[in-house]
Amino acid sequence: MSELVLRAMTTEDIAGGLRLCRASGWNQLEEDWRLFIDSPGSGGWLIERAGNILGTAAYMRYDSLAWIAMMLVDPAERRAGLGARLLSAALAAVADVPCTGLDATPAGEPLYRRFGFVEAYGLVRTKAKIDPTCFPYGPGDARPMLASDLAAVCRRDREVFGADRGRLLAALFHRAPECAWTVNDGAGVKGYTFGRPGRLYHQLGPVVAADPGTARDMVTRCLSRLGGRVFAIDAPLLDGEWLDFLKSAGFVEERHFVRMFLRGHVPPGMPARQYAICGPEFA
Ligand SMILES: CC(C)(COP(=O)(O)OP(=O)(O)OC[C@H]1O[C@@H](n2cnc3c(N)ncnc32)[C@H](O)[C@@H]1OP(=O)(O)O)[C@@H](O)C(=O)NCCC(=O)NCCS
Repeated sequence: MSELVLRAMTTEDIAGGLRLCRASGWNQLEEDWRLFIDSPGSGGWLIERAGNILGTAAYMRYDSLAWIAMMLVDPAERRAGLGARLLSAALAAVADVPCTGLDATPAGEPLYRRFGFVEAYGLVRTKAKIDPTCFPYGPGDARPMLASDLAAVCRRDREVFGADRGRLLAALFHRAPECAWTVNDGAGVKGYTFGRPGRLYHQLGPVVAADPGTARDMVTRCLSRLGGRVFAIDAPLLDGEWLDFLKSAGFVEERHFVRMFLRGHVPPGMPARQYAICGPEFA
């Protein structure tokens, strides 16, 4: 049998990465893979045999935070050490970054624990086909985001997220402007949302707000205009009332996963203000 080859991914390998996404029922599009491969200091590793891609791991560098994602092994090749080899390669590529995190599925969690990842908090995937009548709204300050809002939004995000993911947020703004909303009071940016399309559903996130009322106002106004689309919102399990609101709007819990950081080194930031993460692949 041909040998296994571990090598860095290029844009030529995206089709193979997407095949593995499909095999695991994941939602990513070519543009998502491209963000890893094109972003500075970021990238992906793959293992192939005779030109067939059997596994991948990607890493994104948000200055002081590295994010590991796209850990995918062909179902027929699992439990043979490929996942561990790919994770080692991804971690070596970001060894100079002070904090490294990931969102673990139950399939990946034992592997990550063996590498020293420690749980920070749980997350829940919720999903709904949007029915606009479930999103009644009264007066509020949320409005569609403009390109001219981006710089201030990214500055605020640096404080709340704890690292600079401005490049990612700008890409999301251009990919799905209808999902980008903001609230700006006299004191500055009070909240913002972004979203993106996917193969199976749209994702709304990140949703960042100073308080639950601001988060509700933005999400309500945004989704009430997008009836008929299926949306996922991945929410930290930190605020029961927020989950109750999502459920009242038709969102149903689908599965749980866990945010973990290497050796428990959590980045600075304000998790309680993050009502939805960007998604497990982007943090
Ligand atoms: C998670 C995933 C990437 C792991 O890939 P993998 O190649 O099976 O990973 P490994 O083989 O390195 O390790 C998996 C387990 O197999 C065991 N294993 C490794 N080599 C083995 C061998 N030769 N024989 C038997 N078991 C072995 C490991 O000890 C490990 O056990 P653990 O889970 O109890 O720690 C894979 O299951 C997958 O693609 N899952 C679906 C997508 C997913 O959920 N990805 C994770 C996202 S966070």
